[in-house]
Amino acid sequence: MKRNLTQTHALYERAKKVIPYGVNSNFRYWGPEETMVIPRGEGAFIWDADENRYIDYRLGFGPIILGHSYPPVVQRVTEAIRDGTVFAWTTPLEIQVAERIARLTGVDKVRLGNTGTEVTMHALRIARAYTGRERFIKFEGQYHGMHDYVLFSTASTPQGVMGSRRSPINVQNSSGIPEGIRRYVINLPFNDLERLEETVEAHWHELAAIMVEPMLGNSAGILPQPGWLEGMRELCDDYGIVLIFDEVKTGFRIANGGAQAFFGVQADLATYAKAMGNGFPIAAIGGTEEVMAVLEPGGLAHGGTYIGNVAGTAAADATLAILEEEPIIETIDRRGQRLMEGIDGILNRAGIPHAMTGLPSMFSFILGVEEAPIDFRGYIAGDGDLYERIINALIDNGAMPDNDGREPWFLCYSHTDEVIDETLTMFEDAVKQTQV
Ligand SMILES: Cc1ncc(COP(=O)(O)O)c(C=O)c1O
Repeated sequence: MKRNLTQTHALYERAKKVIPYGVNSNFRYWGPEETMVIPRGEGAFIWDADENRYIDYRLGFGPIILGHSYPPVVQRVTEAIRDGTVFAWTTPLEIQVAERIARLTGVDKVRLGNTGTEVTMHALRIARAYTGRERFIKFEGQYHGMHDYVLFSTASTPQGVMGSRRSPINVQNSSGIPEGIRRYVINLPFNDLERLEETVEAHWHELAAIMVEPMLGNSAGILPQPGWLEGMRELCDDYGIVLIFDEVKTGFRIANGGAQAFFGVQADLATYAKAMGNGFPIAAIGGTEEVMAVLEPGGLAHGGTYIGNVAGTAAADATLAILEEEPIIETIDRRGQRLMEGIDGILNRAGIPHAMTGLPSMFSFILGVEEAPIDFRGYIAGDGDLYERIINALIDNGAMPDNDGREPWFLCYSHTDEVIDETLTMFEDAVKQTQV
């Protein structure tokens, strides 16, 4: 490591004394020397405690869609919270945000939340209440948050423990989950319609939901193959299963209408968080009139003290208004495309076999493969060690995607063309430094 991290390390030592492993989310732990402490960010940049500047492509794991500390959002939140923050009553702001989400995504009804974990948990309960069934299908390499039901065969699963493709094993990704939970979840490989059909035909009478990240947002952004989401939609219609799109990463990022609009497939329920508030804690479940009708007071439990809190809701209102009124996603896509093409060219010139994955607003690349993988099993066959070495060199040079290629590079509106050019120079240097 060539940069000075004296203050950063000192703060991290202090953090470890009072915070387990010095982090408030295990994903932020990179090791005793590598874990960062970041006091501030602005636009496309963050600075560590030693004032090293990084072009930020982690963007807090995706929420930042406009830029860090984006002035119109900050101003809107600051003004809104002067009039109070929680009232345990519906606010006009909540109505406005629900209207915006319905308009942008095509859902009929919206309930707000605070985090992705919270809304995927509630979406599952809604699907169970609607169908009267208990099990659900998810896909290997997908991550839906921290509640017990979904912590099986996520993107954190190591190679070689998932069993055969024909009968995948539910790999538990955390200790502390009751053994009985395992029976409620079925994990299948992504993009394998034949396997999905077989499983639905065998188990439909106990299946409440299919929960899917429409693209593998936690496994390098691998895209759905043509017909995959459409086939899933058809199966759900035929067998009365609730189709849940987990759009926590794709929502208000790959298109204003998220994956439903981008891929042209409408789900029964969709979960949103991250980009909808440009970094403030805010989330939502949107759905059809019919399915959302089960949210009946006294019938299905859904609630929370901070749902609709003014800070998060004002941030969402400001962010969604900007997305609606300005060509934000188009601009991000254009610049992201240039970054993807630049990286592709640099890797080609360096003679490193690779596959570019994902979409310009959230993309990654997999090294050491000749063909683009279509599922998580394909992803983990790639050369993750080389990826990590290149990205660690890139971070030293001043641009910071996650050094685990499962986590896409996220782009925001503040990544200007100059910032993209600067990143490509840093990336080319990083590849050369890694190859010597
Ligand atoms: C697709 C998806 N769903 C759910 C979550 C959980 O969201 P949160 O971290 O806000 O609880 C994440 C987080 O990365 C995610 O990527």
